[in-house]
Amino acid sequence: SATHVLLPSGKRMPLHGFGTWKAERGETKRAVLAALNAGYRHIDCAAVYFNEKEVGQALKEWFATSGVSRSELFVTSKVWNTCHATDDVVSACKQSLSDLGVEYVDLYLVHHPYAWKFHGLPISENNWVLRDDKGDITWADGVTLQDTWRGLEKCVHLRLVRDIGVSNYPAVALMDALQYARIKPAVNQCEAHCYYQRKELRDVCARFGVHLSMYSVLGSGKRGPLQDAVVARIGREIGATPAQVLIAWGLHTGCSVLAKSANAGRIAQNFGAQRVALSAAQLRELDALDRGLMTCNMVEYWAFPSHA
Ligand code: A2P
Repeated sequence: SATHVLLPSGKRMPLHGFGTWKAERGETKRAVLAALNAGYRHIDCAAVYFNEKEVGQALKEWFATSGVSRSELFVTSKVWNTCHATDDVVSACKQSLSDLGVEYVDLYLVHHPYAWKFHGLPISENNWVLRDDKGDITWADGVTLQDTWRGLEKCVHLRLVRDIGVSNYPAVALMDALQYARIKPAVNQCEAHCYYQRKELRDVCARFGVHLSMYSVLGSGKRGPLQDAVVARIGREIGATPAQVLIAWGLHTGCSVLAKSANAGRIAQNFGAQRVALSAAQLRELDALDRGLMTCNMVEYWAFPSHA
């Protein structure tokens, strides 16, 4: 099966990527180096993960020691909700490039389809959201998703990024974006896994030629697919771990798949999922696990930041 997808810029994106969401500072550099050593060539980042500087340290060390060139690595970043105004997108992008220590990112995404009030750069734990007296999130009045998209298009023209896309866009927001886009979104990165298979969204993406990238393909490690008995049994049948079964299932859909781990052993194990072959009967069983269960509850993250 395919290992890469061709994006509009002509760059090929590896279908199996390494996720850095929830990688703690202090462990991110080591995790990214472990991922690169295991063979990952696609690293998924975002300003709001608060760890792009550490990713940058890992990349710097890796380039210096491995002899692998920048063009052989695929790096994604995302503009945070507080930087949705057109010019703020460009500033946020430059900040991420500086933190990551790269001259361009391969893919730059709108992190969420929500415009929040600007609250300073660089994005940190102290300014990722501006709350009012009641503790509610403040919105960037009058800033539309079209304004934000113009900012991403500007980043392409400035050669700061190669391809652009969106993240966490439901089908309606994606179809709206296809109306106003001068440069079409290449990718929609969304939560998807065996318990939340997003078949409708996958159909819409396929119909409009937008590549769907699945994050939290392990169900974010909690209450779900990693503990599933069918997944475990299929793993035993083929000598694979549950995480490998879940990643292999995701890759089989033709979508790209992002998996996070901070542990070198699990990182190598996850990368090995590319070699795991599932039979048609096993794929049918995994398809039947769909139950529309989101594990990444953003309300939990945003309303109760102490849970984040
Ligand atoms: P850890 O970082 O300690 O390995 P997702 O990519 O769906 O968000 O899932 C990430 C979660 O899954 C993390 O909690 C991660 O923990 C855990 N995880 C990653 N790889 C494996 C694995 N091979 N086996 C079990 N848990 C894993």
